[in-house]
Amino acid sequence: MQVDVLLGLQWGDEGKGKIVDYLADQYDIIARFQGGPNAGHTLVIDGQKRVLHTIPSGIFREGKINYIGNGVVIDPVTLLKEIRTLETDGVPVKERLTISKRANLILPTHKILDAASESNKGSSKIGSTLKGIGPTYMDKTGRNGLRIGDIHEGDFLVKYELLKNKHLQLLQIYNFSFELDQIEEEWLDAVEQLREYKQVESVYFINDALKNGKKILAEGAQGSMLDIDFGTYPFVTSSNTISAAVCTGLGISPKHIGEVIGITKAYCTRVGSGPFPSELNNETGELLRKIGAEFGATTGRPRRCGWIDLPALHYACMINGVTKLVITKADVLNTFEEFGVCTHYKYDNKETKELPYDMVNKAIDTTTILFKSWGNIEHNSILPKELSTYIKYLEEYLDVPVTMVSNGPGREQLIELTIKK
Ligand code: GDP
Ligand code: IMO
Ligand code: MG
Repeated sequence: MQVDVLLGLQWGDEGKGKIVDYLADQYDIIARFQGGPNAGHTLVIDGQKRVLHTIPSGIFREGKINYIGNGVVIDPVTLLKEIRTLETDGVPVKERLTISKRANLILPTHKILDAASESNKGSSKIGSTLKGIGPTYMDKTGRNGLRIGDIHEGDFLVKYELLKNKHLQLLQIYNFSFELDQIEEEWLDAVEQLREYKQVESVYFINDALKNGKKILAEGAQGSMLDIDFGTYPFVTSSNTISAAVCTGLGISPKHIGEVIGITKAYCTRVGSGPFPSELNNETGELLRKIGAEFGATTGRPRRCGWIDLPALHYACMINGVTKLVITKADVLNTFEEFGVCTHYKYDNKETKELPYDMVNKAIDTTTILFKSWGNIEHNSILPKELSTYIKYLEEYLDVPVTMVSNGPGREQLIELTIKK
């Protein structure tokens, strides 16, 4: 059987959670493969809003396995809080959740190091979510990390103390004050409680599932423009967020990858610092933020808003091998009579569809064309003419079929389009 992938093509928050929740019904396993609690995936089911950070967005579907893969970094405290909230609402998390023993642990001192590093960077800070993501992946690749499987070993506390003390030494280079005792106690308690939840070796778990005909949906976190290799470096996250990361983040061969479903908003947002060529630093941008309720699901920070960026989207479709495109927040553009679409970048005295090597220090201007908006979408199967025109333009520019349009935050506010062969 195959693994289909669903991931964000912009700077995150494209609406992945909503679409995964909708599609989860068609799969047996929904798997996170990278990132950690820096993610905030929002689902609105029967009018009730839920935000997931580490748990996959299939958790509300009966009979599905929600799997946290080896490529994910886990903060026991955040995960446990998420579990307890779901359990209070009657979701049988113990039945539905499985965790890879190979997933790395975020320690309290990783979070402190994240905050100290950001504070030290001053005005050039990344705008990290301060969840300890960067320092944890640094320890993973530096071969110092602790993993979920370690919590079952007799020497876990010894290993923990060793790593913590290394972090305390590192912290001495920063002029940063912190309080460890209480968060450490909370963390150790959460580690204890997590033992009750299913943890597996993982490589055999996922490959046996495939051999037994199980259908898997891999749920991306962040977005392609935040990828550590291909994003707007250094204003990125610390993991590979693209489709290739599914293989290393779950332990499967590339031959198993099936559809790659890419998600984009009908416009564009970014939270945190870094390049955003089509950003609207004006009243229109503010209106997009207001109408689109663009505030971070993890940190509550206002998201920067702008028009859709087609050179960046084309680049993201290329590196992910996107086979299907989903457009979210089509309803937000209703507010505008006309809206913009960035078709080209302008730098080095040329107009181009290509992204420069260094997007941070290059002054990038944009070419924007205008499209007419469509008013309310009244019927879920008939697309307004103006929306069809916009979709057709995107399909031609990106050479990928649009298969779904989302027109509201609710699970059912979705239009499925048939692919013309
Ligand atoms: P994710 O990180 O990609 O899962 O996205 P977030 O949950 O961080 O942000 C997406 C936000 O848009 C959430 O508040 C969703 O409830 C909301 N949303 C998703 N799709 C739509 C849509 O089509 N229209 C509107 N108005 N809101 C949407
Ligand atoms: P989801 O899965 C939007 C951004 C942060 C910051 C940069 C690095 O909800 O789409 P990090 O904490 O990873 O060190 O922060 O990446 N960022 C996100 N932005 N959505 C996310 O996740 C993000 N995860 C990280 O704002 O600019
Ligand atoms: Mg989000």
